[in-house]
Amino acid sequence: MSRESDDARVRIGMVGCGRIADLQCLGYLAHPKAEIVAVCDLDLDRARARAEQWGARLATDDLEKLLADPDVDAVDILTPHHLHEAQARAALEAGKHVSLQKPPTRSLAELDRLARTARERGRVLRVFENFLHYPPHRKALELVESGAIGVPLSVRLKTAAGRFTEGWEVEPATQAWRMDAEACGGGATTFDHGYHCFHMAQRFVPAAVERVHAFIHWTELGDGARIDGPALISWQYAGHPARYGSWEVIASVGMRVRSQYYVSDDRLEVHGTEGIVWVNRCTGQLLDEPSVVLYRDGETRAYHDLETDWAASFRLGGCDFVDALLEGRPPEQSVEAARETLAFALAAGRSAAEGREVAISEMG
Ligand SMILES: NC(=O)c1ccc[n+]([C@@H]2O[C@H](COP(=O)([O-])OP(=O)(O)OC[C@H]3O[C@@H](n4cnc5c(N)ncnc54)[C@H](O)[C@@H]3O)[C@@H](O)[C@H]2O)c1
Repeated sequence: MSRESDDARVRIGMVGCGRIADLQCLGYLAHPKAEIVAVCDLDLDRARARAEQWGARLATDDLEKLLADPDVDAVDILTPHHLHEAQARAALEAGKHVSLQKPPTRSLAELDRLARTARERGRVLRVFENFLHYPPHRKALELVESGAIGVPLSVRLKTAAGRFTEGWEVEPATQAWRMDAEACGGGATTFDHGYHCFHMAQRFVPAAVERVHAFIHWTELGDGARIDGPALISWQYAGHPARYGSWEVIASVGMRVRSQYYVSDDRLEVHGTEGIVWVNRCTGQLLDEPSVVLYRDGETRAYHDLETDWAASFRLGGCDFVDALLEGRPPEQSVEAARETLAFALAAGRSAAEGREVAISEMG
């Protein structure tokens, strides 16, 4: 990091300037001690346009060139999943800290190799999952952790996708790698998006997930393309009392989902021994309900004064990475926690493929 005593700054290199780069940049642009100094994309025109937009001095289609730049302290990787391991390893070996978009890798072996490289090189490897930083999720977590619903007993998540004629435009090339199991590492819905939901399921109950069962239907879209949904996935947490969770994916292809981003929305419900908490939106604005609602002692309380734009989760997550580097503390999302989430997501895929319940311990 460039440091002149308390004037230390984190200089970021962005790798991959596609759809999600629109939001991933927000933390680095907002943080007073961060700046985006270099940009890399295979599509050089795209890299140049982003560099201009973000005020970066280097735009390249050559990752090695970005990694050789001594002005880059940390790299944010926003590319298709089959590239994550090699690009993150190259960055760590070049002495850069790394923020890697979820899902970090396609397999636990890939993630373990990266974790080893980060340890050996003494660099920070942060796996970024933005739902954790979404203000309504933070509020709900704060309520649960403060005992507002007693002991958490059950997590229920629901993802509703709507008609694709609205919301963000997603390029065919992006859809293509997402639906290619080799490039994606699993289904576009239950692995790629699922990583968020599995992560939330782990955060809201302070016990490891032990077993998972999944029904995942593959819907044919024509021309050989297919998408993994609808789906119903359930799991059991370790220990006592017996605790379960579930996640349902519904494709309401004719339904309008109001969204500035992807045309889908996520809802979450956590039941405890003394109450219930709901998070009623995330990526979209499906329903006009308060974003967080708490029920306990016969009373319902709604929380209205929260930032509910999904983009906030990216801004806050970006700032956490910068602050962690400046303060010399681990970022909120460790590789160890990411490994648990990845194992959970992979176990769900295996359960559906093999038509049986899968123990997380089987995943290695
Ligand atoms: N947190 C979230 O909610 C969220 C949402 C969307 C995407 N993501 C993640 O972000 C990452 C990118 O997704 P996206 O939707 O932006 O994809 P995208 O296809 O829109 O963008 C990927 C970009 O990477 C570039 N690229 C491909 N190969 C490259 C290489 N070898 N070197 C440099 N650049 C290369 C492409 O040209 C493209 O611009 C994925 O890991 C994805 O899972 C996360």
